[in-house]
Amino acid sequence: MTDPAITDLSKDAAARAATLLVEPGMRLGLGTGSTAAIFVRRLAQRVQDEGFALRCAATSKATTELATSLGLKVEELDDIGWLDLTIDGADELDPDLNLIKGGGAAHLREKIVATASDRMVVIADQGKVVEQLGQFHLPVEVIPFGWQATRTLVTRALDRLDLTQRPVLQRMRDGKPLLTDEGNFILDLALEAIPDAYELADELSSIAGVVEHGLFLNICQLAIIGRPDGSVVEL
Ligand code: 5RP
Repeated sequence: MTDPAITDLSKDAAARAATLLVEPGMRLGLGTGSTAAIFVRRLAQRVQDEGFALRCAATSKATTELATSLGLKVEELDDIGWLDLTIDGADELDPDLNLIKGGGAAHLREKIVATASDRMVVIADQGKVVEQLGQFHLPVEVIPFGWQATRTLVTRALDRLDLTQRPVLQRMRDGKPLLTDEGNFILDLALEAIPDAYELADELSSIAGVVEHGLFLNICQLAIIGRPDGSVVEL
């Protein structure tokens, strides 16, 4: 390991394996979060070593800054148009490769980038693999205008689906409401289990103030799971 910024061997194993999916000239989506950041570092190393060109679109300001600082060319998604491949992390993934994302509050851009790609590949450590989604809180990005009414509607939807009685919390940072890159708020849904992710996704999407929820259903085609010994398994 030559990069002192990379300390998690499982995440690094997945990230290294994912760099091998990248081909010269590709249009590539770059995810957000600690695993995606390791991928960006490994990718930048490979591009520097092999000297090939890529066109990258990033899923957050943080990833744009990191990638640019490492010499990768980051463009607006609309300037690239469509992507060949997106590599991103996840908060949870189930055996059908359905995901919860948004732990880093970036799931709106992440979903746009992933669905504007021919292929989305998740990189993660074994701890992210679950039988059923829902132990990780489900992030929902909402418009600030009338957000408390939106929260009421979200709570009612959860009640209708018999999902949870725990309060829907607004995500805070440093004592203030967290603002996403798009200037929105995040509600975190503590659900414990999501028996029917498709039903919940439909309910949430039908609420006016909801911009996007963190359920990624039928979007990911491959998951690369890293292990501390440097090996990986593909799901
Ligand atoms: C950000 C995300 C991340 O991909 C997710 O939170 C996983 O992050 P990490 O790799 O740090 O565990 O969805 O919105």
